[in-house]
Amino acid sequence: MRVLVTGGSGLLGRAVMKVFQEKNWNVLGTAFSRVSQGLVKCDLTDSSSVEALIEKEKPDFIIHAAAERAPDAVENRYEETRKLNVAASSHLAAVAKRIGSKLIYISTDYVFDGTSPPYRETDTCNPLNKYGQTKLDGEKAVLKEDPSACILRVPILYGPVEKVDESAVTCLLPLLQSKAPKKASHYEKRYPVHVRDVALILRDLVIAITKDKEINGIFQWSGKEQLTKYDMIVAMSRVLSLSHDHITPDPNPAPGAPRPYDARMDSSRLEALGISHHTAFDVGIKECLSPWLV
Ligand SMILES: NC(=O)c1ccc[n+]([C@@H]2O[C@H](COP(=O)([O-])OP(=O)(O)OC[C@H]3O[C@@H](n4cnc5c(N)ncnc54)[C@H](OP(=O)(O)O)[C@@H]3O)[C@@H](O)[C@H]2O)c1
Repeated sequence: MRVLVTGGSGLLGRAVMKVFQEKNWNVLGTAFSRVSQGLVKCDLTDSSSVEALIEKEKPDFIIHAAAERAPDAVENRYEETRKLNVAASSHLAAVAKRIGSKLIYISTDYVFDGTSPPYRETDTCNPLNKYGQTKLDGEKAVLKEDPSACILRVPILYGPVEKVDESAVTCLLPLLQSKAPKKASHYEKRYPVHVRDVALILRDLVIAITKDKEINGIFQWSGKEQLTKYDMIVAMSRVLSLSHDHITPDPNPAPGAPRPYDARMDSSRLEALGISHHTAFDVGIKECLSPWLV
């Protein structure tokens, strides 16, 4: 099995590479600015480099995890971001189709507006921010170029980080460690997922597709615990034995780009394939943050 992972240097891509390598699959990851051992540099907005790489590697599967995923960065650099999140995804799908590679595009719960959860794969999308819009447009572009491609929508992710602010979950640790009074959002409801769970789901999906080539279209995975950012802080405080007395819950919408209030996704299409992996938040977050306690 030959697999190409775009965004192999990123939070999710690293976990996918690890899990796939454990299966002894032949895995090549791409990176852009963080090229390290086992990764090849590839700017996905450079279409000729992408074509050359895919034609050389001829992967059976492409897991397309590279994206700009910080909503506030996308608001400020919308046109530039569209080149990566939309145009490059579209081109990747076209090349994958020509070569005969199966593309799995990673998307987000931010394609929904969060007003009427739970959302099924077929429910109407209505992104509230430009990031969600680019990811939805990326989905549509991928499926237009290659209707046999797959989309996997995931919610907020956490996992082993290179910097504590690398994930929107682990970045809460400094708030907890500082003794200064702070507010934490207690409005938007989130369903955090450990990146290893997503990687295991992708592994199982790849295996399912090798047995049934007709599997395609949109899939969704959601964490099973509903938590606001404040709830996550309370959980971290509990498992890391740190006080959260200086943090107060903020009942207002988070500042910056608008976020959906509750974009809980229905995961039953994956579950019907027998695919399900869930790490309890207490367990996963303790494992990820323990190395950062000094
Ligand atoms: N993180 C979340 O909470 C979350 C939630 C829902 C959905 N998602 C989706 O999950 C996927 C993975 O997210 P992530 O958290 O792993 O993202 P990430 O950690 O920010 O990683 C982004 C990846 O994209 C690469 N990249 C950036 N610009 C590139 C370019 N021009 N050409 C090629 N590669 C480029 C980066 O490479 P370098 O770092 O080497 O520059 C990095 O490997 C994304 O599609 C995202 O939309 C993420």
